[in-house]
Amino acid sequence: MARHLPPVYSPVGLGAIVSSVFSRRESSHTQLIGLLGDHFDAEHALLTGSGTQALQLAISAALSEGAPVALPAYSCFDLVSAAVGARAPISFYDIDPQTLTPDLDSLERCVSEGARTIVAGNLYGYPLPWSELRKIAAHHDAILIEDAAQGLGSIGQGTPAGKAGHYTVLSFGRGKGWTGGGGGALLVGGGLDVPSLPPGTAVSRLRPAATSLAAWLLGRPSLYGIPASIPQLALGETVYHPPRAPGSISTFSAALARRTRAASVDAIPLRREQARRWAQEILDRDPNGDRILPCLPIGDFDSASSLRFAVRLQGADLTSDTWDRLRRHGVESGYPVPLPRLPEAWGLFKGDPTAFPGAEALSASLVTLPTHSWVRDVDRTTVLDLLTGSAS
Ligand SMILES: Cc1ncc(COP(=O)(O)O)c(C=O)c1O
Repeated sequence: MARHLPPVYSPVGLGAIVSSVFSRRESSHTQLIGLLGDHFDAEHALLTGSGTQALQLAISAALSEGAPVALPAYSCFDLVSAAVGARAPISFYDIDPQTLTPDLDSLERCVSEGARTIVAGNLYGYPLPWSELRKIAAHHDAILIEDAAQGLGSIGQGTPAGKAGHYTVLSFGRGKGWTGGGGGALLVGGGLDVPSLPPGTAVSRLRPAATSLAAWLLGRPSLYGIPASIPQLALGETVYHPPRAPGSISTFSAALARRTRAASVDAIPLRREQARRWAQEILDRDPNGDRILPCLPIGDFDSASSLRFAVRLQGADLTSDTWDRLRRHGVESGYPVPLPRLPEAWGLFKGDPTAFPGAEALSASLVTLPTHSWVRDVDRTTVLDLLTGSAS
């Protein structure tokens, strides 16, 4: 089987998966909640069936009568799903395509026009300007929901991800740095409404256990070509999933997330180093950014957790053959459309879906590069040859 890099890699060992299959519910939940309390200073932690469910609960709890929730115009489609599940009116703010951070003028506009809940989330481990975001929220008496699904390990203006919002959302799902094979968490700060979950709503442990086992077995360069070649798995595709009623995390995912925490933290320094190498090699090859413009983290690379390295392609479209070759080196395109253009958002969003130039630019040009431990010099060379049109 030809070498095929997965786009992301969340460290997990077979021993952790097997032990988690046999874990007991009470102790798994208690231990993960204890760990979250220790690491993120949360007053309360709720373990949910997914990050999307945690976000839906946070939006429902934070929403003030009739006021919209402000969402980034460029992010994972699950943000719209959560707002739809919470039946929240939506306003969108734009994203700065150079740093993948909120366009603060655009966000100010949302809150000036009435939004009283702000969702701000890291993309690909790029840090966010939390001091400024908190200032805007405080000035308008708005609740700040931190979506840290892709952000753990980043530090934005001195604030570590996971500690930045009134409410914070975590995900232990696929493609994030910290895996439980599924599940999520909602961290709630002091003095805020704490949502509750209906009893008896835990996800079955079978599915996350099977997913984790498959990821452990096939998520390596020698075998990843197998799942990547099965169209039904839709790996790497961005699909809208309708919201589900929030429920509790599976016992398996709670147990596995606790066991993979240390490895997920240990993986970050190497990812940062890989991101630095991408940035340097792109600069060496294309100093004027004629073909490839890197997105650079605010602060520096030490403040990013570099789940992926993001670049914007200038000019020529890539052929499908070039895309096939890029994917074999772990390259993926970004989200295909800005969130305001998703038809599912239209019943809740009353503005102009085309009015977000940063999000439009990102959906047209963003490509993300892998930063995990399997990326070698030859991958970088081949990818940059393909992206600059110098590949044979
Ligand atoms: C930025 C962001 N927020 C929230 C979510 C939702 O997390 P989950 O997949 O656990 O529902 C995702 C999932 O990809 C995400 O990328």
